[in-house]
Amino acid sequence: MNTGEAYDKWAKTYDQVENKTRDLEKRAVRTILKDIDVPHILEIGCGTGKNTAWLAGHCQELTALDFSEGMLRRARQKISDAKVNFRQADITKPWAVKPADLICCSLVLEHIEDLDFIFRQAEVSLSAGGQFYICELHPFRQLRGSRARFEHEGDTHHLEYFVHHISDYLSVAIANGFTCSGLQEWFDEDNRNEIPRLVSYQFHKRSGTSQ
Ligand SMILES: C[S@@+](CC[C@H](N)C(=O)[O-])C[C@H]1O[C@@H](n2cnc3c(N)ncnc32)[C@H](O)[C@@H]1O
Repeated sequence: MNTGEAYDKWAKTYDQVENKTRDLEKRAVRTILKDIDVPHILEIGCGTGKNTAWLAGHCQELTALDFSEGMLRRARQKISDAKVNFRQADITKPWAVKPADLICCSLVLEHIEDLDFIFRQAEVSLSAGGQFYICELHPFRQLRGSRARFEHEGDTHHLEYFVHHISDYLSVAIANGFTCSGLQEWFDEDNRNEIPRLVSYQFHKRSGTSQ
């Protein structure tokens, strides 16, 4: 089963089943971006819309992309806000979007092999000074064996994943015209004696690059 097919199936239970990674990321994005107020947000890999309605309260227009029709269907059922435009799109193909002031990407890039392509697309899709927020399962967790998985009809399905180290994100961001303005590790119950569950990044597009 490829990643898109897996998410089509997972969509039925994604919001209901216990998922500490999903829930901690929900807290991370609401903490980091609480003061954001911009004209246009682009959300890539919006899934069932866990963050979409909240983000829509912080902009005048939101474009939400995902390649799983199953995930998008759930999101559309939950959110009917005229400022939100859901679109089916594969983010490993060129993004045809109008310039955004903020790009949000939560728990998506572990499924994407080529980070450089994503940062190149982000750079051309952002307005000058725009921000790229990313939050992902921490690579330490991946190396300890954690990965996206779900139960369907009695079987456990594991999704394809790629390990990207923190240094990979920083190098590819710098190479594509970004500076890093925030890097945080997120722990279960804020217990810093354990391996962090998530890592979040805030990148800003350097002035003098395209757009
Ligand atoms: C773990 S879910 C996260 C959804 C949401 N961002 C959240 O935090 O709950 C990952 C999402 O990324 C989407 N995704 C994975 N690869 C993608 C791709 N190449 N293009 C578009 N969406 C993709 C999946 O369909 C899924 O909805």
